[in-house]
Amino acid sequence: MRKPLMAGNWKMNLNHLEAIAVVQKLVYSINDKDYDAVDVAVLPPFTDIRSIQTLVDGDRLRLLYGAQDVSPSANGAFTGDISAPMLAKLGCTFVVVGHSERRSVHKEEDGVINKKIKATLAHEMTPIFCVGEDLSVRESGTHVSHVIRQMRAGLANLSKPELKKIVIAYEPIWAIGTGKTATPQDAQEVCSAIRNEMEEIGSREIAQDTRILYGGSVKSANIAEIMKEADVDGALIGGASIDPEELAKIVKFHQST
Ligand code: PGA
Repeated sequence: MRKPLMAGNWKMNLNHLEAIAVVQKLVYSINDKDYDAVDVAVLPPFTDIRSIQTLVDGDRLRLLYGAQDVSPSANGAFTGDISAPMLAKLGCTFVVVGHSERRSVHKEEDGVINKKIKATLAHEMTPIFCVGEDLSVRESGTHVSHVIRQMRAGLANLSKPELKKIVIAYEPIWAIGTGKTATPQDAQEVCSAIRNEMEEIGSREIAQDTRILYGGSVKSANIAEIMKEADVDGALIGGASIDPEELAKIVKFHQST
């Protein structure tokens, strides 16, 4: 069935020297049995990616890695941006697209998110497409329809083979970095609605194969409960992922269930 994915979103933390130290500690704690059971990825700042690529290639590590954002354009006069071909050349497997911090701090809207997803797919990388509601939407009880609307906009005009490659991360904004995790039932409610919508816009087979992650204050103490839910296939982990021992414990969630 679906292989769980645990992806550490480092956000704007760890320079390239710190990144090397964290990856070395992380991979020291993860063995082949863990990698057989769970895909493990880190999503560092751009400046760390080359160093991580060198470690992964040099030691033939099974650790996957990717970027936290991408330009919708392949090249040109876009000062400060990084393109999908540049990330593909660095061996990135994943690109986070539409994280709530990009949506709020950088005013990214659905149209540009859709273009970034297409740029990522065009260069053979997997988008981790983030959706999620803020507290006011949650309190008004319209969180499911809000997330479905974000999905439809972000995935507009994608072919079925493209839809098949998407990973979706449900991250309720009120649970990000707040220590306030959604209950496993909250996560399941939205993740199952996301899977139903994948069936609508793709097919039953695509929906069954799509990995849907939960994100928002995930840590080793709550991951096992969240992973028991039928439609949760892994996690996008922020704060806890910059501590290699904690991330390794999250990866090994299956040993405590
Ligand atoms: P958090 O962040 O685990 O620190 O809540 C999750 C995310 O923003 O991806």
